[in-house]
Parts: sequence; C-alpha cells; structure tokens
Amino acid sequence: MHYSKSSAIAFSCIAMLFFSCKPEKEPRHLNLPKTDLTQADLIPKPSTTEATYSAFPLDRFTAIHTAPDSLDFNDVGLFLADKLKDLIQMDVPVNTEFPNQESVIYIHHSNSLSKINQESYFLKINRDSIVLSAASAAGAFRGIQTLRQLIPSKASDSIIDYPVWPIPSGSINDSPLFAYRGAMLDVARHFFTVEEVKKYIDLLAYYKYNILHLHLTDDQGWRIEIKSWPKLTEISGVTEVGSEPGGFYTQEDYKIIVEYAAQNHITIIPEVDMPGHTNAASVAYPILNGNGKTPKIYRGTHVGFSTFDTHKDTVYTFIDDVVREISALTPGPYFHIGGDESHVTKKDDYIYFVNKVEQIVQRYDKIMIGWDEIVTADIDTTSIAQFWSSTDNAKMAVAKNLKIIMSPANKAYLDMKYDLESEYGLNWAGYVPVDTAYIWKPESYKNIPQKNILGIEAPLWSETISTISELEYLAFPRAIGFAELNWSQPENRDWENYKARLGNQAPFLEKMNVNYYPSPLIEWKTESEIPKTLKK
Ligand code: ACM
Repeated sequence: MHYSKSSAIAFSCIAMLFFSCKPEKEPRHLNLPKTDLTQADLIPKPSTTEATYSAFPLDRFTAIHTAPDSLDFNDVGLFLADKLKDLIQMDVPVNTEFPNQESVIYIHHSNSLSKINQESYFLKINRDSIVLSAASAAGAFRGIQTLRQLIPSKASDSIIDYPVWPIPSGSINDSPLFAYRGAMLDVARHFFTVEEVKKYIDLLAYYKYNILHLHLTDDQGWRIEIKSWPKLTEISGVTEVGSEPGGFYTQEDYKIIVEYAAQNHITIIPEVDMPGHTNAASVAYPILNGNGKTPKIYRGTHVGFSTFDTHKDTVYTFIDDVVREISALTPGPYFHIGGDESHVTKKDDYIYFVNKVEQIVQRYDKIMIGWDEIVTADIDTTSIAQFWSSTDNAKMAVAKNLKIIMSPANKAYLDMKYDLESEYGLNWAGYVPVDTAYIWKPESYKNIPQKNILGIEAPLWSETISTISELEYLAFPRAIGFAELNWSQPENRDWENYKARLGNQAPFLEKMNVNYYPSPLIEWKTESEIPKTLKK
C-alpha cells in the first residue's frame, strides 16, 4: 500500500486526536514583552482588570474554539475570525481540529455569569490560551470587542521570524452599567444608505452599543417602504433637506440593516415621528394632514408646523398599517412614535392621539417609546420616555413610574457643534465639546432616580450633514465617550484617564477610515505621528 506524504500527516493527526496526545514538536519559548493589562487603552473601561505581566501570542498557530452546544457562540467565533482577518490578515480557524494549535482562544458558555447580567463576560488571558466566558452570545460578543481592542496595531517582528501580536495577560471581569446603550441616526433630513448605516453599526458595536434607533420619517422625507401606502416613498422618498435626492429603504433593505445589526448584537428601533414632523407623509397622502394648509414639499429645517388630523379614522387606519408593516420586519421589542414638537396640534388632540397610537403599538406587541412630550398623555407604565429637552417632562415620567432614555440635548446630542470651529452641526442647545459630552453623570442627572434610567441614547440629527464622513465628524469621538458613560461603573470613569485612552483610538479610527473630529482637547496618537489636522 502506498501512502502519500499528506495522507500520512492527516492520519497521524487523526491518531493524535483520537489518543488526545500532543503534536510532537518543540514547545515554543517566545520571549514576549512584559505588558501590563491594566494599562491597556480599553473603552469602555472594564469593571475590574488584573495583570499577570506576560502575554498571549496571537500568531499563525492560533485557533478559535467555541461552546459546542451553541450556534450563536459559533457565530461569535466566526465574527472574531473575520475581524482578525481584516486586522492582521490571518485566517484563524474556528472550531476545526488541526494539530499545530499552540495558542487557543476558547469562547465558553458559562451559566454562572447569567446571574450577574446576560451581557457580562469574564476574559482570562494566559500565555498559551485565552478563555472568554459569557452567559450568552451577546456577552461573548461584548467580550470579543474587548479582545479586539487588546490586539496591538503592529505585529512584533523581533520575537521570532514570523509576526506575533502579543496580547497582555491577566483577567477582566466586566458587566454593563446600563442595559440600553443607544445611538440614533436621522435618515429623514438626509438619507444614509444601507452600506453607510452598516459602517456606523460596525463602529458602534466596537464600543459595545446595543441599540440603533433610526429616525425614519420627518417633514422633509419618508424613508421606509410601506406596501399598503406606496406613495409615501414614491413621492416623499426622493426629497430631503436642500436639493439632494433623498432615498429610502425598501423593506428588503430594512431587513438587511436589521439582520446586520443583529449579527452585531444591536437592536434596531424604528421611529415614525407623529403627529408633528409629518409634512412628508401628508405630501404623499394629503388626507392625513391636519394643519389646514395644502401640504407642499419641504426642504428647509424649521420644525413644528405640521400635524396629522387627530380626529380622522383614516389617520388611525394609516398608522395601523404603518406600525403593522414595520413591526413585522422588526424583531426588537420597541416602536418609537416620535411625539416631539407637535406645536400645531391642540393639547387635547395630542393627548387623544398619543393614547390611541399607544394602543396600536401594543396591538403589534411592541413597547412604545416617544420623546419626552409623550408623558403629557395618559400613557401606560410599560411605555418609555426619551428625555431630550424638558426636565419637567422627565420628572413627570418618574412620577408616572416610566422608564427613561437619557438624551439631554446639551450633553448627548451628537449634532451640536463641538465649538466655534465646528464645520457641521447646530448650537441651539449650546456647544458640546468632547469633555462636556463625557463629564456628567447619566445615573443621577437632574436627580432622576437610577432605577428609572434605561441608559443614554446619543441622537444624531442630520440637518447639516449629508455624507458618512460628515456623520463621522459629528459622531466621533463623542459617541465613544457615551459608550463609556453607558457601560463603565461611575468609579471607573475619569476624564484625564479617558482622554489618554481616547487619544489612543486614533489608529483604529484611521484604519476604519473614520473622519473623526481631531478635538484639540485630545492628544491623538496617530500611527504616523502626524496630527490628523495636518494631513490631507
Ligand atoms: C427633538 O430633538 N426634536 C427630539
């Protein structure tokens, strides 16, 4: 019988697996640098970190193994392999047996952590293994983001004759402060494509966000296909602020966004803003209009002039269809009804409207969210208020025992200008430089009890931005600070310490081609050591 060399190797590998013996080769004695895990530039800062002052060698002998009982954990392993391929151009095998595995990353399912939080994880980095334990795939996914941040941006080529990325050893125990860690994107004032939204999702996931709220409709445009009311997108999907051509998501597009977000353990929240902010809907279907004027296409940036007719049955038939169609495409538990700045809706009509729409949302098994004005209606305690402007409304939400999403405009609005130099943005709530966005306490802001607070959501309104690079300019770096406020324990947050870690995000942001605002408050550690402001 004749054996080829490769089949002989394959056989001996199988034999080795069968007898679970170690491959016959020299153990590696890599002289890795003595790195300190507690000094790593992690954002958000983990709950506790301990260093053991050696390192795990990420290299061509690394493999990933995931909990055998879970497809979701397998997906987390594949996600990590995919990111490693991008970052270090290496194919790291996932759940395949091959004999040269010297340094294994185990992603392990641990029920004991579920008692703390479904998103908690424990990361143990040894010299020859990394063990990531989590109660759920979501927890494992958050832990993977920590691991990604620990990979040096350059390989060490002086250790041995192939590239090695040393990962500092030690352990990290980590849990989120808030369960709801959100960003909002206004795709109505200016439209952003599926690919652009995906890029935003990539960046948010890296910093452990778990919510993306899409503001899908406003006076200037309607961005989601509704099959039973096709003129919404035929007529109002092609307008936006200024003279640009708008755009909209077909239901298939929207499903792609929802699915991509789910792969990143991010929940999509759809918003249909009403009864105000509805000019685009009324341009498509004038029967909906309640402000007594002939609806005309609007490309400006004023607010508060439009309203639905709150006393017409057709309006509620329309809303029922819209909520039904969008809810069917949205696996997440929430539906956002807007409800802000309905300045031309009479107060009683507004209350009547919100009460009716809440019932519609609940009929489709969704939890209603609305901007803080909705607390003036008789809403259910299961509904959620998003505090953006009125402290009185936030206090009323507490009195009604509602949960609150924290988006105070003077702290958390990503569309406020940073300072006088800002190229984009508005300033009606003041300037929001990077330190102002970070130095506040969402867990006790305006004395709102922490038990009422779900977490921060950072809204990005798009009146002044129309490209992904302009979006990035306003969102980054401030969105990174909100990630830390949302995730990290108050005692672990410190501006001076954060500032240094933020400066070290520059290589990642540049690798991702993110047009972040190079705030002069931060010392940016770019790969090239050339300040970003001097490039271009
Ligand atoms: C808002 O900024 N109108 C919620």
